Amino acid sequence: MGSLLPAHLSHLPAPSADAVAHCRRLGKLIADEIAAAGGWISFARFMELALHAPGLGYYSAGARKLGAAGDFVTAPELGPLFGRTLARQAAQVLRAGVADIIEIGAGSGRLARDLLAELATLDCLPQRYLILETSADLGERQRALLQRELPRLAARVTWLDTLPASFAALVIGNEVLDAMPVHLIQTRGDGIAELGVTASDGVFESDTRPATGAVLAAANGLKLAPGYTTEIHLAAHAFVRTLAASLAHGVALLLDYGFPAREYYHPQRSAGTLMCHYRHHAHEDPFCLVGLQDITAHVDFSAIADAALQSGLDLLGYASQAQFLINCGITDVLAATPAENVAAYLPLAAQAQKLTSPAEMGELFKVIAFGRHHHMPLAGFTSGNKQRLL
Ligand SMILES: C[S@@+](CC[C@H](N)C(=O)[O-])C[C@H]1O[C@@H](n2cnc3c(N)ncnc32)[C@H](O)[C@@H]1O
Repeated sequence: MGSLLPAHLSHLPAPSADAVAHCRRLGKLIADEIAAAGGWISFARFMELALHAPGLGYYSAGARKLGAAGDFVTAPELGPLFGRTLARQAAQVLRAGVADIIEIGAGSGRLARDLLAELATLDCLPQRYLILETSADLGERQRALLQRELPRLAARVTWLDTLPASFAALVIGNEVLDAMPVHLIQTRGDGIAELGVTASDGVFESDTRPATGAVLAAANGLKLAPGYTTEIHLAAHAFVRTLAASLAHGVALLLDYGFPAREYYHPQRSAGTLMCHYRHHAHEDPFCLVGLQDITAHVDFSAIADAALQSGLDLLGYASQAQFLINCGITDVLAATPAENVAAYLPLAAQAQKLTSPAEMGELFKVIAFGRHHHMPLAGFTSGNKQRLL
């Protein structure tokens, strides 16, 4: 399907012959859907197919995605410090009477491994650790990793196809909201246009139509000046509403990169936040390397909070990742390894720096927490809770 690496991205590593064939198969599937739809699909549908088309989408198919040998590194991929620190917040919620953990979008399975191992050390294991994962490939990788690296606890882990209709649990989702499809809009002098995708001679291109329905309503609510391109996160809002509808009792912790609406839709961010990640290179062209690269948008945490509050959840906290991890005791976890043990201490210190430094993940990444019938203040928000900014 067209050129895999256009001239402006010719510096990126060339994909293998197998990867090229895979990309062409997915490109054809998307082009066929565009043709069947009359020549245009929304960007959200394009992103959904590029990331999640069964057996072919970036997340659904077999390539290594996360970690040093993949395309991007998430907090659990840096090493165990993130999961061990998050376990302290999990332990507080479990001790308050919630039996299970549900992890949404568990990636390689490393966060599940680190959380469970630390919760065992804290003598606070959940009854069950449930994983809701849309990618069959990642589900297999998670199973294999847990069997290999944490066999004594692997039996506690079960995979779900959908959320139970009603549950009591601590829900954890790290970098899941940013993988959900977004609509793209552009404000113009004469109204709001939606950017969609056309296919011509094997090449995907962007094309606009007047925005309608839920996309238009959401875009109007943002009150943007003309000449602004940005994302509308209908899928993430629907996900939060679904989660809220079935969370009968417990806490949901969602961690991701993003901002409150005031910062997200700042006049200077007039090109939006859509980004692609391929072998540790970030760029802004979602139409190349289809199925071989991640496509992602930052999270509008104000809209996530609105969706949860409108669904009857309580907002329990909102803080930068650095503040949250410091509140949870990241420095104590680090200090438990003596600095004289250089081989063990230095990697942990490097992880702490990446996770909390404002120049790395500390400030761009945020943690938001919701609850139902959970009345104890969460340890992660004891200081620096910024929920009033949402
Ligand atoms: C960016 S990765 C993050 C993985 C992992 N949480 C981490 O931090 O390393 C996104 C994960 O969410 C999964 N995912 C995407 N959309 C999902 C959805 N609607 N429900 C459940 N999982 C989803 C992907 O398959 C993948 O496992």
